Amino acid sequence: MSGGRSPGRDLEAFALKKKVLRLETLYDVSRSLTSAREEKALLEEILARAVPVLDAARGFAAAFEDAEGSGTVAALGLEPAPGPLAVASDPFVLDLARAKTSLSRGKETVLGSGIESVAGVPLLAGGRVLGVLVVLDREARGGDAPSFDEEDRRFLVSLAGLVAPALEAARRLRTLAADLDRLREENRSLKGSLGVDEILVGDSPAMRRAKELVARAAASRVNVLVTGESGTGKELAAKLLHAGSPRREGPFLALNCAAVPESLLESELFGIERGVATGVEARIGKFELANGGTIFLDEIGDTPLAIQAKLLRVLQEREIERIGGRAKVPVDVRVVSATHQDLPAEIRGGRFREDLFYRLRVVEIRMPALREHREDIPRLAGHFLARIAARDGRRAPSLSRDAVKALLDYPFPGNVRELENLLEGAAALVSGDTIEAADLQFGIANESGLELHPTSADLRNVENAHILRVLAQVKGNKSRAAKLLGVSRRTLYRKRI
Ligand SMILES: Nc1ncnc2c1ncn2[C@@H]1O[C@H](COP(=O)(O)OP(=O)(O)O)[C@@H](O)[C@H]1O
Ligand SMILES: [Mg+2]
Repeated sequence: MSGGRSPGRDLEAFALKKKVLRLETLYDVSRSLTSAREEKALLEEILARAVPVLDAARGFAAAFEDAEGSGTVAALGLEPAPGPLAVASDPFVLDLARAKTSLSRGKETVLGSGIESVAGVPLLAGGRVLGVLVVLDREARGGDAPSFDEEDRRFLVSLAGLVAPALEAARRLRTLAADLDRLREENRSLKGSLGVDEILVGDSPAMRRAKELVARAAASRVNVLVTGESGTGKELAAKLLHAGSPRREGPFLALNCAAVPESLLESELFGIERGVATGVEARIGKFELANGGTIFLDEIGDTPLAIQAKLLRVLQEREIERIGGRAKVPVDVRVVSATHQDLPAEIRGGRFREDLFYRLRVVEIRMPALREHREDIPRLAGHFLARIAARDGRRAPSLSRDAVKALLDYPFPGNVRELENLLEGAAALVSGDTIEAADLQFGIANESGLELHPTSADLRNVENAHILRVLAQVKGNKSRAAKLLGVSRRTLYRKRI
């Protein structure tokens, strides 16, 4: 031999090289397994590694499903590539599955063709056969016999040991992903079906109409203007419009345009770049945060004209400009707005832009005043009492016949919100299981909680009215009410109103 080296040394060097190559392959495979892969990709990878390293001419790797005859197959040098059923029913593969260890043979029939040599290994996880890796027709090289030996089988076993857990993980991941998809879908349809009816309570024609509009408008992506007096459920409707929409997985952001000072409204809506003015921190606006979802602009009628102009531009161009920002940011946001104002009158008075109005009110949903659907009062009352009781972990009090009659007779200027607050106060103070008409303090627990209309100047009556007002403000939390009133909880309980 050249260089005076003995053939023995050459063979030794060759064997060593082979070992190094195999170890390198195992190392590479184990490294590449750290990221989650699909079954097919895993099978292709081990096959592509095993065939050249073992000097095989061809091979296949397969993962079986539990159901017979289905699975994934990767093939190299086999034309046509075998299907999962052919692999699963091949006698050599069946022997591998039975033996649960590597096998090698000389002349054999595999997948219906005669081959010179074959070696294979089952891919085992927890004693179960997930699949097989099989190499065919060893090419004689470096003086090796044209058959697979003990060392080749050991290599196959090591490779299988690395890959099988990854294969099982891939399978679990696939099942999980399918489960997740199914659950998401279920959740979606559940939310959809829960939607409007359970949340917006009321069966009157007026409520039915409003609810149907909410359900129908939710499915589309058009901008919706919700109108109606204060406390009629406009915000609730806005939330339902989002929850029932195709963008329900996206964000829902609310901004009360009347509650934010004009100087801050623009940055609240559109954001601000850092350093526009000294000490100003960069901040992302609600429009950007709502990307892919819904923005709810409450009390839109109270938006200053300067902001109205900017809103209009955003609606027209579907992109926002942060204060002090150079670039425009595209946004995909559905706008639901609400107002208790008469916007056409505001437009006539020059306080609201007509072009903005039409952009916002592609669909208008008018929430009826409670006095327009009195027949819903008993059901609404039951709904609120049940909710209060569930929150406080006690049994819901019922309403006496007189109490129901009193509720039906009252005009409810504060609409559903006033009814809710009224019941909150009554439920907090009632001692037994039944709320009597006398427990209902009308005209106190309305929206702002500030208007006080005691029915007489009697001092006890004024005191009771005050207590109820405070209770309504703290949503019936007696400890907080007592603190605000400057009396002990026991004193508050003794004040039987
Ligand atoms: N139809 C209804 N069914 C159940 N709760 C309602 C209904 N309408 C209003 N509410 C409740 O009344 C309160 C006031 O509603 P909200 O949506 O804030 O009114 P608005 O925005 O019109 O002032 C909320 O607590 C809301 O949950
Ligand atoms: Mg509101």
